[in-house]
Amino acid sequence: SSSGFGCICLSIPGMDPKMNQEKGTWTGGKGEGLPDFRSRDPLELKDIFIAVKTTRKYHRSRLELLIQTWVSQAKEQTYIFTDCEDKELRMRTGANIINTNCSAAHTRQALCCKMSVEYDKFIESQKKWFCHVDDDNYVILPSLLRLLSSYHHSQDVYLGRPSLDHPIEAAERIKSDGSVTVKFWFATGGAGFCISRGLALKMSPWASLGNFISTAEKIRLPDDCTIGYIIEALLEVALTHTHLFHSHLENLQKLPTNTALEQVTLSYGGFENRRNVVSIVGGFSLAEDPTRFKTVHCLLYQDTDWCPKLKPHHKN
Ligand SMILES: *[C@@H]1O[C@H](CO)[C@@H](O)[C@H](O)[C@H]1NC(C)=O
Repeated sequence: SSSGFGCICLSIPGMDPKMNQEKGTWTGGKGEGLPDFRSRDPLELKDIFIAVKTTRKYHRSRLELLIQTWVSQAKEQTYIFTDCEDKELRMRTGANIINTNCSAAHTRQALCCKMSVEYDKFIESQKKWFCHVDDDNYVILPSLLRLLSSYHHSQDVYLGRPSLDHPIEAAERIKSDGSVTVKFWFATGGAGFCISRGLALKMSPWASLGNFISTAEKIRLPDDCTIGYIIEALLEVALTHTHLFHSHLENLQKLPTNTALEQVTLSYGGFENRRNVVSIVGGFSLAEDPTRFKTVHCLLYQDTDWCPKLKPHHKN
């Protein structure tokens, strides 16, 4: 459900041409050279608000798998944003399911409507970090915690996988019709991204209480792209590029098996590309676990009751 393309030149009538001068450069990670916050202010899982975006047609096929796996380890702080009531699922699993009342159509407007509700719920939550994922993402919670621990939530931090493989140079010019072209990076929504509370609060004029929808309408771009526009083009905060987030748009088989559990998010090829999965071996065959999420989960949480028991000689 991410846009899956690079951003791109926009024409925004009357935008301040001084904005966004040096965007598009690679930022090595904003934690560098800053004091180490880890010892003073250890980040805990409960400090992270995790938003999962889904839609009614994926409640059974995609969401149940997430609830059975990683969401079960972060039940309190994971919120599932959907477009219908599903009392049965909520009762049976105890998951936080939020009916956004947005349309179930896979349109820009409907996706932006959900992102707008996610943003408002995060602000309301008082948590330190906002992370957004899709319903085909596995979140490796220990890796997420480790990554966010190297930053501080009051810093301006926007972390994610850029939608292009190479940095694009910032270019801005005033056209004869008075519109301004801006270029910016955005984190592809299908791989997941995170925003610090400090930065999220600064986004408020363009993101809170329905403003996100009007911002997206103005530039006519998808939800993840609009997030990048607000942060990079309007607030002039650079995306911190990370390749620890993964979407189904990548070749997931290429991910080295020995680094799989160090990633922050994983995904799997959808209906059209079933074989695009992380190559990881464990207690479940490809037939038993076509997404590999159960296998990943059992490697991370071996004590889970439905995980295959380790053979005695494998025990420490
Ligand atoms: C959706 O609509 C219901 C019924 O009007 C309301 O109770 C609920 O708060 C709405 N959800 C959101 C996220 O606004």
